Amino acid sequence: MKLLAQCALLFLSLQLHAQQDPQRHRFITTLMQRMTIGEKIGQLNLLTSDMDVTGPFMKENYKQDILNGACGAIFNAYTPQYTRKLQDMAMQTRLKIPLLFGYDVIHGHKTIFPIPLGEACTWDLALLEKSARIAAEEASADGLHWTFSPMVDIARDPRWGRVAEGVGEDTWYGVQVAKAKVRGYQGTDLSTPNTLLACVKHFALYGAIEAGRDYNTVDMSRRQMYQFYLPPYKAAVEAGVGTVMTSFNEVDGIPATGNHWLMTELLREEWGFKGFVVTDYTAINEMIPHGIVKNEYEAGALALKAGVDMDMQGSVYATQLKKLLDDKKITLQDIDQAVYRVLEAKYKLGLFKDPYRGADSARAKKVIMSTTNLQAAREIAQRSFVLLKNEQQLLPLRKGTKIALIGPLANAQRDMIGNWSAAGDYKQASTLLEALKSRLGDIDYAPGANLSDDRGLLKKLNITDTGRSEDMRKEAVETARKADVVILALGESQGMSGEAASRSDIGLPASQRALLEAVYNTGKPVVLVLMNGRPLTLEWEDAHIPAILETWFPGTQGGYAIADVLFGDYNPAGKITMSFPRNTGQIPIYYNHKNTGRPLDPNNKYTSKYLDVSNEPLYPFGYGLSYTKFTYNNLQLDKKNIRPQEKLRVSVTVENAGDYDGEEVVQLYIQDVTASVNRPVKELRNFRKIMLKKGERREVTFDISVNDLKFYDKNMKYVAEPGAFKVFVGTNSRDVLEGEFSLLP
Ligand code: GLC
Repeated sequence: MKLLAQCALLFLSLQLHAQQDPQRHRFITTLMQRMTIGEKIGQLNLLTSDMDVTGPFMKENYKQDILNGACGAIFNAYTPQYTRKLQDMAMQTRLKIPLLFGYDVIHGHKTIFPIPLGEACTWDLALLEKSARIAAEEASADGLHWTFSPMVDIARDPRWGRVAEGVGEDTWYGVQVAKAKVRGYQGTDLSTPNTLLACVKHFALYGAIEAGRDYNTVDMSRRQMYQFYLPPYKAAVEAGVGTVMTSFNEVDGIPATGNHWLMTELLREEWGFKGFVVTDYTAINEMIPHGIVKNEYEAGALALKAGVDMDMQGSVYATQLKKLLDDKKITLQDIDQAVYRVLEAKYKLGLFKDPYRGADSARAKKVIMSTTNLQAAREIAQRSFVLLKNEQQLLPLRKGTKIALIGPLANAQRDMIGNWSAAGDYKQASTLLEALKSRLGDIDYAPGANLSDDRGLLKKLNITDTGRSEDMRKEAVETARKADVVILALGESQGMSGEAASRSDIGLPASQRALLEAVYNTGKPVVLVLMNGRPLTLEWEDAHIPAILETWFPGTQGGYAIADVLFGDYNPAGKITMSFPRNTGQIPIYYNHKNTGRPLDPNNKYTSKYLDVSNEPLYPFGYGLSYTKFTYNNLQLDKKNIRPQEKLRVSVTVENAGDYDGEEVVQLYIQDVTASVNRPVKELRNFRKIMLKKGERREVTFDISVNDLKFYDKNMKYVAEPGAFKVFVGTNSRDVLEGEFSLLP
């Protein structure tokens, strides 16, 4: 019966393919009829080139595999010359099936933009789409067809190094970013040579790893999945993403890479995904240590049967599928279905018409790191920065102020472009030192400390030990004493965040904290410029340092962008998309939490709280200051009640009551006060980024519809339930004006 159902499903899906594009379908089926089983299996084999290695190990003879028709896709290879050389090899095979070239173009290709967690703080979806578009222009000119991006893993634990690659803790915002990125990479027609096939990852739930420890266990209810973690992947599918990458973790006790419910029943049958699924790096092999299969033979069968089409670097499909087929553990349909999907992607990219897709050095030279692209990188970086504190308007810096620049990240080109910067050339990155010198002429500078004094960590991260911190600190203090204001560039090395870089303590490394305190003790006003890939614990810094600017890893133009903001050429407007905890003990901490049965009551011992720290984060989701001051007044709802077909109009008056023109991200949250499943105390449902000149006042309006009120009810139906709702509008998730309304049946 099951086989009959599968055949029926396959027949239907082939019919659907035929209806969608008869010519494409005819081409692919005709080609497949000519392919041997070895050539078919070759199309499911993705191997890394030796230009860059992004995982535990690499196979040496990938070129021979290409020539033998045993490899259908290569990743970590780029430049027109190199991809042409490898494509030439594919053109020597019997059927001349072109290779697919993939790469981690995560936040830019050669022009590197801020890390995604930084870019998310712009709250500018058009800019997020624009940077993906520029990345696609540059990467496709460099011979690439496919990017392993966007990463949309919702995360509530900043100990995890990969929060750097995502959009933070909010599901609704993650949905918006997922759609913008797929549009940016894929455009409207993948056969256009300046587009990239996108790959939404890591499917699914990777951001929920226990204890923030990379590759660790994930375990959550279906409701939690559907409500908080799955929507961004689904949004990417609905936006037409061409591929999906499996995550390393288990889902419901079965690794995603072998999880039929996830990869077929949910992704394809429920969501209608039509592209192909690629594993993460050797994820099929890793189902053995996961303890779900005994060997690669079983792993290959489980993955293919689950609906996984392409094997990244594991060579399990390459070595096991033929035997599995002979042993009738898998069927020819199982293989054909996967091969069809891969060939369909190649067809959509136009590779059968032009295997080189117009990649040539002249086009690359024209497009890559163009002045326009670099200017865009500078503007996006400026908008990604978050002003966390600015006492007595220490910022923006006034002309004529004698400045000292201190810190191990003041002149750190490699760190400026952050982790997952793939083809980015850090030698092209502007540092803060370079930018300040270019603006001020000379400037007193001292590194002041090692990034860390943990020799073992320095070795692990391949960071040179620049000398004894005490001497460096002494030199820095002397430098500070000669200045009016000290800019301190501190934070993490790019290797302290990203993949396989979880940290159990997410404060500034001790060597840098000692430097900060030594400079603070000189009594000179300090501007702390942070460069880091995650929220940090900054209680001491927040209590002692008058100005703090979060710049993440700001990209190729990062130095100039920071200087632009420090001197007020751009008034910072970034808002964090991940809560900054006061200490690691508060983690996981996120704004859209439940109320619990004993919400905090400071006057009642028996309520939910800690003995030693507040429940509140140091900086809440949506938080970010400006050089000016925005006030919110006069929250108005145009109705007390709405019916499902009606809209509620919410308006608020925002005024720029300060001394600088500036942008503000006006945020709208809702709360479903009582429902069949308890709901968070707040959930972001919209935002407006507005520019107000100083003294200007504007009414900002939002329309709330029943769709904004839906959730997965106790029967897992996605519905809105009648009842009382609250609405909040404000400058972040904490400082809000509140209103209420009811949804009527
Ligand atoms: C890595 C990452 C994944 C990346 C892939 C290819 O292990 O988990 O995000 O796309 O391998 O580099």
